Amino acid sequence: MTRDEALALDAADPLARFRAAFDLPDGVIYLDGNSLGPPPVALHGRMEAVTREEWGQGLVRSWNSARWIEAPLRVGGKIARLIGAKPSEVTVADSTTVSLFKLAAGALGLRPGRTTILSEAGNFPTDLYALQGLAALLGPDRARLKAVEPEALPDAIDEDTAAVVLTQVHYKTSRRWDLAAVTAQAHAKGALMIWDLCHTAGALAADLNGADADLAVGCGYKYLNGGPGAPAFLFVAERHQGQIASPLTGWMGHAEPFAFEDGYRPADDIRAMITGTPPILGLAALEAGLDLQLQADPRAVEAKGLALCDLFIGEVEGRAADPELKLVGPRDRDQRGLHVSFAHPAGYALVQAMIARGIIGDFRAPDIARFGFSPLFLSHAQAWDAAHALADILAGREWDQPRFHARAAVT
Ligand SMILES: Cc1ncc(COP(=O)(O)O)c(C=O)c1O
Repeated sequence: MTRDEALALDAADPLARFRAAFDLPDGVIYLDGNSLGPPPVALHGRMEAVTREEWGQGLVRSWNSARWIEAPLRVGGKIARLIGAKPSEVTVADSTTVSLFKLAAGALGLRPGRTTILSEAGNFPTDLYALQGLAALLGPDRARLKAVEPEALPDAIDEDTAAVVLTQVHYKTSRRWDLAAVTAQAHAKGALMIWDLCHTAGALAADLNGADADLAVGCGYKYLNGGPGAPAFLFVAERHQGQIASPLTGWMGHAEPFAFEDGYRPADDIRAMITGTPPILGLAALEAGLDLQLQADPRAVEAKGLALCDLFIGEVEGRAADPELKLVGPRDRDQRGLHVSFAHPAGYALVQAMIARGIIGDFRAPDIARFGFSPLFLSHAQAWDAAHALADILAGREWDQPRFHARAAVT
């Protein structure tokens, strides 16, 4: 593809108008929205209003007058539209890690007598760590984590499997599980399916109810552009509400929090999965991201993201002569998410050299240079420019400078 052809694609792009709605620095090509999305322009005014008016003037009254108390379900209801769920099936709560812990514990309770939680070896570490912590807490007679290679996964589901926990789009390889097919495989063995949608929500047009999924979690700070450490979301299918029990019972999950009863009595809906006081500032930022995202057609978002990835892969492989650079994960767009990973022995330095040119991606140990293609603010020409910069950096060994090898705490 020529750069002019990339520009022609941008001229015909129905999502191009969204670029101006993000507050991004000039001259930067931001290929890390899959780690931390950028702030929407509208965010700044919203935060000002929440802090100055709602918090500053309304003070504690704003729990009612500004409807703060409804925020977890209101914002959850907006996320529901992006993941194929009903508004009553999604709430915002805690972090992804904590939400996954709660749902996995709840899933064990829904499948008494079964002890295995099955996941994928190499799943995002926090998912495995949360499940390891749950297993350690409950002991081997009640819970154990089995993590198998992805190829072995469907056959590893058996009569002892309480729940299968998978990230739909793998954080390193970008490989995508088929939501409906894997959920059906879990159900065929009587197991529940828990999806981690961190790299799905706001990127791919997921359909949880179409896939008959049971439970799901996801974060707010990647493609939903909710800000650093934005609260996470969790999904509980309607049929499990009133049945699933949270292991972290707190007053906000109580049927009547302001009755101040001594005994815990769970709400009979999604609120039962909420634990404590909702983080209103984080929710306000997340809602600003969502209000922007919801103006775009999810299918157009997915299609453009996949096209940007195809363009990037094609241009890098067409130009980069370095035999040590290898695409990680599937090439087929039906089997991938919206980030592209290349393995290279100097992966870290390569990413730093790209950043020095204003093209921001990230590095995942041991050797992966990872580039995310958020469809709302990136253009085809930027994907083209990034690919050609990567090829140039490789050709000139531009990465091979001491300053690009010094490892920072966050990679
Ligand atoms: C698949 C996946 N799950 C979970 C997380 C992070 O969990 P938390 O939001 O609790 O930090 C990430 C972060 O990148 C992730 O990629």
